[in-house]
Amino acid sequence: TKHVTTSAPGKTILFGEHAVVYGKPAIAAAVDRRVYVKIEKREDNRTHVNVEELRVSGFLNLERGLIEFDNGEYEKKNILEYVLKSLIKTNTKDGLEVTINIDIPIGAGLGSSAAVTVATILSSSIYNNINLTRDEIAKQAHQVELEVQGAASPIDTTLSTHGGVIYLSKDAEEIITLDINTEIPIIIGYTSKRGNTGKLVETVKLKVEKYPQIMNPILNSMESITNHAREALVNGDQQKIGELMNINHGLLDSLGVNTEELSKMVYFARKTGALGSKITGAGGGGSIIAYCPGRVEEVISCINKFENAFKINISVEGVRLES
Ligand code: MEV
Repeated sequence: TKHVTTSAPGKTILFGEHAVVYGKPAIAAAVDRRVYVKIEKREDNRTHVNVEELRVSGFLNLERGLIEFDNGEYEKKNILEYVLKSLIKTNTKDGLEVTINIDIPIGAGLGSSAAVTVATILSSSIYNNINLTRDEIAKQAHQVELEVQGAASPIDTTLSTHGGVIYLSKDAEEIITLDINTEIPIIIGYTSKRGNTGKLVETVKLKVEKYPQIMNPILNSMESITNHAREALVNGDQQKIGELMNINHGLLDSLGVNTEELSKMVYFARKTGALGSKITGAGGGGSIIAYCPGRVEEVISCINKFENAFKINISVEGVRLES
């Protein structure tokens, strides 16, 4: 029987989160943890999706755009919305079994929903003999995210599609792959407390509206940090990469997206020898990254005493056909 399996990587933002919402650039990296999406024919003409690691499954009605859940925790259920919209966008007709495996720590802010969306679009387009370029996949996936979430920057879908380390200019109009060593010594620390991205973006917006003369220069500084970081990353200037992360973290704190848990991880990472550490992503819970040349194991075991930490490697490859 006909079947297609594809995979797409998750991502982490190195510099520029939040500022990117105001048209500033950002730098993000695809990470070597992936989502796998297998599509195969079902004999009964119904469409069923199983997201194994989330324990969410259900039947989709592609013609009418409806989901009938078998099971799943309320807050994890919306993953099926991304799958539904991705299948509809790529003209899929009912009669499929879709099996999704998420080999990405859930809730660590690594963009697992974007990876599911991107991989589903590639699987489904191959299944239907539609040829999409990477740019088209990224664009369709971003539209799906907009439809499901209401608002979303193109960062997650761009990285899951293209892979590598990418400098995104305003609204991802221009994406530049940075040529840097994939063995970059970065770790992620994450708390079980999750941040609500939509709410955090709104909190920042209210602050920018209330104190434009204070906040706009901060957003401009974030832009300068990202531009300096681009150079430092390409040149492998370790000291500078670390310092820029620390400055960026302070500015993210000033936007009001820091928390006690994130602060604790950021400062313990530095105390254990990280050259730099900062919030990554929306904040309010979620994750930090720490840049730890020569100190990776020490920083991981320190953070693991009170939260969760793991090393990431950069995934050069974006979305790809597996079999
Ligand atoms: C969240 O991962 C990153 C933010 O900049 C929001 C966005 O870009 O959509 C906070």
